Amino acid sequence: MSLFVWLGRNALFALDPETAHGLSIAALRSGLPVCPKPAADPRLKISLAGLDFPNPLGMAAGYDKNAEVPEALLKLGFGFSEIGTVTPKAQPGNPRPRIFRLVEDEGVINRLGFNNEGHEAAFRRLAAIRGNGIIGVNIGANKDSLDRIADYVTGIRRFYSVARYFTANISSPNTPGLRDLQARESLSALLGAVLAARDDEAVRAGGKIPVLLKIAPDLTEEGMDDIAAEVLAHGLDGLIVSNTTLSRDGLKDQIQAKEAGGLSGKPVFERSTTVLAKMRKRVGPALPIIGVGGVSSAETALEKIRAGADLVQLYSCMVYEGPGLPGKVVSGLSTLLDRERVNSIRDLRDTKLDYWADRPM
Ligand SMILES: Cc1cc2nc3c(=O)[nH]c(=O)nc-3n(C[C@H](O)[C@H](O)[C@H](O)COP(=O)(O)O)c2cc1C
Repeated sequence: MSLFVWLGRNALFALDPETAHGLSIAALRSGLPVCPKPAADPRLKISLAGLDFPNPLGMAAGYDKNAEVPEALLKLGFGFSEIGTVTPKAQPGNPRPRIFRLVEDEGVINRLGFNNEGHEAAFRRLAAIRGNGIIGVNIGANKDSLDRIADYVTGIRRFYSVARYFTANISSPNTPGLRDLQARESLSALLGAVLAARDDEAVRAGGKIPVLLKIAPDLTEEGMDDIAAEVLAHGLDGLIVSNTTLSRDGLKDQIQAKEAGGLSGKPVFERSTTVLAKMRKRVGPALPIIGVGGVSSAETALEKIRAGADLVQLYSCMVYEGPGLPGKVVSGLSTLLDRERVNSIRDLRDTKLDYWADRPM
């Protein structure tokens, strides 16, 4: 890691995590070059759900909640970026402090609670973008909503003209009751309504935008069975596995570990990768899956692909590694492909599927 990044990291770590996050967004928004973009490698290209990704690494939701810097993120080397979670109305989220660093574990706990500026603000920013990069829109429900499913439907309709894909996020642990939408009957109702809205908009717009579902890593085997069955029955376009965990297993930092919220970063890698493989086994080889949770290097990104992911996302480890991380992961993937002597990263998918799927939860 460069001296610059270390100095930057130490200065940023002296600040409260949310202030540091705001500064990093401001730096990206300034348009000044932060890091050189990695060289394009045709072996890293992935065509999936009708989209052509230049490489398999994306920025996970939650960093750019209000669509302020999606293109600046692409310039860091990400092959795609996901904005949101956005809710129909702006909402403040939970009281501060609400993001905590677990430095020894290279983890993060957050209980933000979908703080965001609402649909209109994000829509205006996305509508002004002229580039052609892949930007996904992650949609959710307001905390005080009387009809949560209607909030997701509103999201599909509002962003249909600007989203390249949608993520229905039903797995944040910080909106009370939201994860209940993962239960079979509620999930069926949600997917039915969301896909009906998508199909309706598709007729008007003349093309189908893919819809993915983002799930928690805290699921039982039966819970995973139910989700897989509903996803296949409704013909959903893909899964994102996973969101943050409520588990605190194996943490060194026992002080911050007591904070309420979802845990992410290195401590969630094993759990999220295990659920990813278990879901890949359940849904079969054709359904697109994005693996997310604890990706910190080219090796861990490739491990997600070996466990069944088509694409990968990261967020928390960038807090520790800085803005050079996406470039490092992408160029590191090229080096790993040289070593593996394969012509496409796709050839490595599922090569450790059994290893990961057979792990106990
Ligand atoms: C501060 C913070 C805010 C997040 N906000 C969202 C969000 O709004 N929507 C969402 O789907 N996921 C959100 N996530 C979850 C991440 O997208 C990701 O699924 C999770 O952190 C695991 O990946 P990671 O270990 O690479 O961070 C958030 C994560 C963090 C750390």
